[in-house]
Amino acid sequence: MSQERIKELAALLHEHNHRYYVLNQPIISDQQFDAWMNELEALETFHPEWRLSNSPTQRVGSDLSQKFEKVAHVRPMLSLSNTYSEEEISDWLQRVKEGLGTNDTELVMELKYDGIAISLFYEKGVLVRALTRGDGTQGEDVTANVKTIKNIPLQLQGDYPSSFEIRGEIFLPKADFERMNQERMAQGLELYANPRNTASGTLKQLDSREVAKRPLRAMMYFVLCDEWMANTHYEQVVMAGSWGFPVPLTDLKMIQRVTTTEEVMSYIHHWDVHRNDLAFDIDGIVIKVNLLQSWDELGMTAKSPRWAIAYKFKAERVSTRLDKITYQVGRTGAITPVANLVPVFLAGTTVKRASLHNADQIEKLDIREGDYVWIEKGGEIIPKVIAVDLDKPRGGQDPHVYIQHCPECQTELVREEGEAQHYCPNADGCQPQIIGKLEHFVSRKAMTLEGWGVETLSAFFKEGLIRNIVDLYHLDLDRLVGFEYSVWDEATQEFRKRSLQSKTIENLKKSLVQSKEVPFERVLFGLGIRHVGETVAKKLARALGSIDHIMRANKEELLAVDEVGEKIAESIVQYFQIKEHQEWMTQLKEAGLQLASHHVDNVQSDLLATKVFVVSGVFEKYGRDEIKALIESHGGKVSGSISAKTHFVVAGRDMGPAKLEKAKSLGVPIISEMDLDQMISPE
Ligand code: IVH
Repeated sequence: MSQERIKELAALLHEHNHRYYVLNQPIISDQQFDAWMNELEALETFHPEWRLSNSPTQRVGSDLSQKFEKVAHVRPMLSLSNTYSEEEISDWLQRVKEGLGTNDTELVMELKYDGIAISLFYEKGVLVRALTRGDGTQGEDVTANVKTIKNIPLQLQGDYPSSFEIRGEIFLPKADFERMNQERMAQGLELYANPRNTASGTLKQLDSREVAKRPLRAMMYFVLCDEWMANTHYEQVVMAGSWGFPVPLTDLKMIQRVTTTEEVMSYIHHWDVHRNDLAFDIDGIVIKVNLLQSWDELGMTAKSPRWAIAYKFKAERVSTRLDKITYQVGRTGAITPVANLVPVFLAGTTVKRASLHNADQIEKLDIREGDYVWIEKGGEIIPKVIAVDLDKPRGGQDPHVYIQHCPECQTELVREEGEAQHYCPNADGCQPQIIGKLEHFVSRKAMTLEGWGVETLSAFFKEGLIRNIVDLYHLDLDRLVGFEYSVWDEATQEFRKRSLQSKTIENLKKSLVQSKEVPFERVLFGLGIRHVGETVAKKLARALGSIDHIMRANKEELLAVDEVGEKIAESIVQYFQIKEHQEWMTQLKEAGLQLASHHVDNVQSDLLATKVFVVSGVFEKYGRDEIKALIESHGGKVSGSISAKTHFVVAGRDMGPAKLEKAKSLGVPIISEMDLDQMISPE
């Protein structure tokens, strides 16, 4: 019975995955999908022997740590010859026509996806292996990671060959990349350079559960089989689409058959102008001969096939005048110089500002106010100043003089040895630093104070209602119904008035109450101590257990904690040397925040990793808190309410009827404390 159900659920999930991620035409709710996924995960947990190798649950990632094995490619993974010149494209076309002895050679125009090449092997419709390009002869086996990519089919449909290879590119869509960077910016972390590098770094992560969290996608462009499935490359790609692969869409001109040089050039020009409309980055166009028989006739050079060529777009750059260099102060006090430019259109957006990184960069490029500078975007979202445009008159006679005082609070800046950035040391008295720290404290990865946006925080700060994180818990919010503040509207470029409604006040209060459940490690991260990121906060919380211990610890004791180096240890000691910070901790404790860890280095296994549990009712063998601790010590998460994200409800006697109903309606499996015991027993 269960085994049948496992097969049935796997088939359903494969089908709806394909509809959602490949066809973009879902026909069921996310909730229904999640419910089936939860049911399948539950069944597989109890019957691991029945888990299918291509199970959709693999999407969440599994192997804790895998070394990438080097595997020889069955067919070498060659690269394409490149050119930036249209003339060379015409020459290539000429050579192809001569080589084939005909003038009407059909060509296929395709996008050149800017990602990481991947080779996938399917046996009997099941994905069995995924290899990176490596050195072209040998690639790395990244199968576990690739299985987490949502638009790569784990099980094919239709009339596919029983054994074949398919190649394509893995990438990170631009919007997802931007969102990731916005999150990093909010947390004061260094930004990722571009989608390609981020995708590549992700694919090489050792923990496939981390890969599963990133929205990588694939696009396939090349089927390889002992016997051709059709006469042309174009037909093969379309066929691959019918088996469930993400392939270029013919109606969107992502792939097009042409015959004349004019058509080739017009396709290139079209995408040179419209490349920014695509959801992903491309760095050029690939032109292939369509007839597969011609591939054999034309053959290869040592490095690349003669039947294809890549036209690469030039990195877009433009020159504009730099009006003024201003300085931004980040949450940690880091100063970033910014070039304020005469607005110029570049790669799809109007650029007004560009980062100048730090003092050294300005000195190295000898950038002066009033200069014309070259701006480039490349794959990067934030434009860069790459050089002074020396064909234009210089802005001034003398090199730019870097500021020595904070532009916001006039405190003298410091620059620590070995660091590129200048800092404003006035951490608790400099407005952008205070607001930045408040913003960090309320952020999702820290206290998750929903509704507490930067506008509310800034308004409260300006009104003198809050000066630090502790004040949030002392605010008399009920008195603020009708409180008016202004919000900058980017679209209209005007300030708009807003006033706090009682509903919003209720939500602000509610999130403050909920934040008292946030585990210690996230509270610690939320304090915004310089150099204490998420991972370090977690390690500190687990190793030292409480804020009291961390406050008391000297540098040596801190250095003994995994991942804590000199810089971090010094920064922590410095932070807690400040009397005011010590008082904050007492007040946060009084407010009811979690300032101690429940599980100090008590990790027993990761058998429940990635699983979310809700615990409800009265139990026989364990106390409720004990069950929670047990789940956490095996890597599971405990949540207070049942949602589509819940994997299991551990139910005892007298579980509330509303919870029971909700679990049933969402299809969340309900298990007993005995079942839980079984799940965490090692065999
Ligand atoms: S066909 C024999 N088609 O560009 C080579 N490659 O240097 C067959 N690429 O390694 C490759 N988009 O990673 C092909 N539409 C496309 C492509 C594409 C991107 C990448 C691929 C390859 C590199 C060529």
